[in-house]
Amino acid sequence: MHYRHVSVMPEKVIDYLNCRPGKIYADCTLGGSGHTRRILEKIVPKGLLIGIDQDKDAIKNAKKILKPFEANVRLFHDNYANLGSILSELEISAVDGILLDLGLSLHQLENSGRGFSFNKNEPLDMRMDIDSDTTAKDIVNTTDEKSLARIFKTYGEERMARRIARQIVSTRKHKPVLTSRQLSDIVISAYSKKGAGHHRIHPATRVFMALRIAVNRELERLENFMAGVSDILNPEGRLCVLSFHSLEDRIVKKNIKALEKECICPPDFPKCVCNKQKLVKSVTRKPLTPEKEEILINPMSRSAKLRVAEKL
Ligand SMILES: C[S@@+](CC[C@H](N)C(=O)[O-])C[C@H]1O[C@@H](n2cnc3c(N)ncnc32)[C@H](O)[C@@H]1O
Repeated sequence: MHYRHVSVMPEKVIDYLNCRPGKIYADCTLGGSGHTRRILEKIVPKGLLIGIDQDKDAIKNAKKILKPFEANVRLFHDNYANLGSILSELEISAVDGILLDLGLSLHQLENSGRGFSFNKNEPLDMRMDIDSDTTAKDIVNTTDEKSLARIFKTYGEERMARRIARQIVSTRKHKPVLTSRQLSDIVISAYSKKGAGHHRIHPATRVFMALRIAVNRELERLENFMAGVSDILNPEGRLCVLSFHSLEDRIVKKNIKALEKECICPPDFPKCVCNKQKLVKSVTRKPLTPEKEEILINPMSRSAKLRVAEKL
């Protein structure tokens, strides 16, 4: 298997993660293991890297390319939302750094054969974890029109959400929508019926992104993870999150802000009764973004935002 991915903002991520020799780090989204390799180079010979991915292909690839660091790596085919239980299994109470590089790898998009790309004719699957239950085909063929439109609108900010949902429901009355090509053709036809002419991006971009987010319950997993993250970081340990979608970035920002707050009593309370403590400090007031040169070489990086927080 040839696994392709170009790591986003690699130097910044490694700098901000503050990788120190002998410490413990969790790369929760291995992908092509590009960031992982860089972390390992900084923490050997005594450090430990816990690598997680919900895609078996990523784990298979990591086993191969991280072979030189075998003694310093533990790999898990799992959801990063389960990092807490993975640490308990390893009898580790907390780590010194956590990296989340959200979204899809280039391999998943181009070579997984799971229908992530509107440019290919593949079964409409879109599961990052092929052991999970729901596929994109299930959602497209069984969800009612209103809920389909809501998925496209909320996760994809698709302005033609209702029209596209209507067209899907009318198509599937005659034959099920089974492939990425069929879905992409439906979206293109919904746009052309409306007379929407020139597009900056492919008309199916937003629908495919929205479906992928729904299939993998991406926002729900991120929300759960962020709520408990400060419990599994050592003091001075850092959390780095690279996100590619405004809703993801909003979740990360909101949770860091909540962890930063000292007191959450109503403003008219004479004294604090909540006993809430400030648990982290934000290292990046504004999210960091890739330089123009990086975007030219790797267009997939164009929407990346990096936020960093440090445990107190
Ligand atoms: C953008 S890629 C990571 C690329 C990697 N940092 C690199 O440099 O090669 C994202 C990876 O995260 C994985 N992933 C996404 N959501 C996940 C989740 N909730 N749990 C575990 N893995 C997840 C995907 O399967 C994919 O392999």
